[in-house]
Amino acid sequence: MTRPFDRSLKIAPSILAGDFADFGAECRTLEAQGADWVHVDVMDGHFVPNLSFGPAMCRALRPHVSGVMDVHLMIAPVDPLLDAFLDSGADILTAHVEAGPHIHRTLQAIRAGGARAGVALNPGTSIEAVRLLLDDVDLVLAMTVNPGFGGQKFLQAQLGKIRALRAMIGDRPIHLEVDGGIDVDTAPLATAAGADVLVAGSAVFKGGSAAEPSAYGRHIAEIRASGLPGMRSRSQGVAQDEARSE
Ligand code: DX5
Ligand code: ZN
Repeated sequence: MTRPFDRSLKIAPSILAGDFADFGAECRTLEAQGADWVHVDVMDGHFVPNLSFGPAMCRALRPHVSGVMDVHLMIAPVDPLLDAFLDSGADILTAHVEAGPHIHRTLQAIRAGGARAGVALNPGTSIEAVRLLLDDVDLVLAMTVNPGFGGQKFLQAQLGKIRALRAMIGDRPIHLEVDGGIDVDTAPLATAAGADVLVAGSAVFKGGSAAEPSAYGRHIAEIRASGLPGMRSRSQGVAQDEARSE
């Protein structure tokens, strides 16, 4: 059975900003506090200048995430580790277009392994890198910081690229995820430009903990509330465009 495509706004906290000694509790708490997806940042210390964790951690987290486990692979080469990440139970596996010469093969392998396939673009990468991949992806991830670290400043100059990606995606069943520097000020910019999934690390976790989780819930709710008008103005814009073209 195919599930209906969900075009609503989704907040995906990145556990990179959580307690590395207690990720299971962090995942359970985030979902209880209103997270739509749990975003898991995998870094190899080579493709990006930071090292986080690998497939064993994803597998260990799986029982603690009842909804969508959204795994962002910042690793190169990616293909040799794909089976391990597929076995970990990830719902979405996103690979970077810059991480190797055969992104098309990577995306096909992800789908063949039963997960949804995402393709990520660094800030310096043109949208043309994904144009020929749109039949092979369920998600496009636009980085709004250079990948590797949480807590960086949102790159406003990426907004034009996000708008262009949204236009390119059209009404295909493909999520447009924006990752890096999302908070209550930048969420509305990202959604107005076309995002339907917002990754947020530091802005969700600041001042909270699994033992004191209400800050997580407040931040998730605030980011959602700030992002929603952008989604609405966009769908009104689409409705107006459709009315004009009749
Ligand atoms: C960066 C990661 C992001 C990051 C987001 O390489 O892909 O997911 O953790 O963190 P903030 O929201 O703090 O920028
Ligand atoms: Zn990420």
